[in-house]
Parts: sequence; C-alpha cells; structure tokens
Amino acid sequence: MDGNGRWAQKRGHNRFFGHVRGAKVAKSVIEECSQMGLPYLTLFAFSTENWRRPRDEVRFLMKLLSKWLNRETRNLVRQNIRFQIIGDINRIPDFARKQVQKALDETRDCFGMTLTLALSYGGRQEIVSAVKSLAKKVARGELLPEDISDEIFAAEMDSAFLPDPDLILRTSGESRISNFMLWQCAYSELQFIDKAWPDFNSSDLQNALATFRSHERRFGKTSAQVIRLHDAKG
Ligand code: IPE
Ligand code: MG
Repeated sequence: MDGNGRWAQKRGHNRFFGHVRGAKVAKSVIEECSQMGLPYLTLFAFSTENWRRPRDEVRFLMKLLSKWLNRETRNLVRQNIRFQIIGDINRIPDFARKQVQKALDETRDCFGMTLTLALSYGGRQEIVSAVKSLAKKVARGELLPEDISDEIFAAEMDSAFLPDPDLILRTSGESRISNFMLWQCAYSELQFIDKAWPDFNSSDLQNALATFRSHERRFGKTSAQVIRLHDAKG
C-alpha cells in the first residue's frame, strides 16, 4: 500500500491526511476481497525500515493502526475474517499492541478470508529469524543440517501459516519489492500500479485480478506440461 504521503502532499495536505485516506481504502479492499471469496489477503502496512521515519509520523501511524483496529475488529468478525499478523510485534507500542491482540483473539474462530497485516515486517529479518531458530535446533541436536529443506525452512517463518502469495500488487508506480516476502515471492506474479494507494479502487483491483488470471504460471515447467496438467485435472 504505497503512495499515501505523496498523494496527500500533491493535494496540498500533510502526509497524515494520506494515511487516513489509505486506511479507508484498505477497509474497502478487504471487504471486496472477502466478498469475492479470496482465501488470503496480506497488506504491507508498516515495514522494519518505516521505524526510521520522523517520530511524529511513526506515532501517527501507530495511533491510526490502533484506532482502525478498534473500529474495524467487529466488522472483521461480522464478515467471518480471520485477522493475523506477521512482523516484529514487540516493537509496536503497547496501546497499539493491545488492539492487535484483541483483533487476533476476537477473530480466532473466523474461518473465512485470512487477513494478514505485515506490521514492523521485513522479509530479510523474517529469513534471519528463521535461520536463527533452525541453528538453535541444530545446536540442541534436534535437527541435522543436511535435513534442512525448503519445507523445513518455510515452516520456521512468521508466515508459515500462509501459502506463498499468488499475486503481489504494489501501488504508487515504484517497481520495487522493498523487503516484502522475499522468500515467499519466488513464483508470485508481480504487478506495479501507477496510482497511489489512496486512489486505488475496485476497478483497479478487478483489473489486476483479470490480468493475473490471464497469465499462465509454469513454475519452471514448459507450457505443454502445464496445459496437460490442467487437462488431467479436468
Ligand atoms: C504507504 O504510503 C504507507 C506506509 C508506508 C505506512 P507512504 O507513507 O509510503 O507514502 P509515500 O510513498 O511517501 O508517498
Ligand atoms: Mg512509500
């Protein structure tokens, strides 16, 4: 969800105004994805690197997160949406962490779409922490280095409860992955959208999904193999 600050500044507002608008857009996108029956939606809300922003902006974003969750948790429950997070939750200030915990608890039994917020999240940090926990298992003699596989590695990640993303969308015209799900994006479709996040709307979402559906995903195989596989599955 990129481009809130620039969107606001271009219109003569402060950056905070863009974040407020961005939070509203997030609400509509969540509702639309849930209504369409998408099983998973992950929103990159705040990166490890975002802690380096000016203190007042960080503070504002944490307050916005906390208010947003306080207001939206009951709507998530109503839509049967399970709330999850990935990232270093310990760095989130207490007042916001309480709302995060409340949303986790209150949506625990929801079994519709899984909405994951990446909060204080960095793909490299996630990989390093998985490496540390595997190293500890090896040191304790619970795991042999030669037994480490893709699957065993992925199981140590924060995001172990999520499948790899099929489609990654980034708004605001930047063609960068910026430390998002570096391990998990190996076969993701990437789409970069010129609009800033506050302008992202339902037709942008539907266009992105239509483009995604029109692409053949071969996962390293040939086109003929993939078509045969589809036929075999009927
Ligand atoms: C995305 O908008 C929201 C967060 C990272 C919290 P930005 O704040 O990155 O907006 P720009 O990229 O500066 O315009
Ligand atoms: Mg940005």
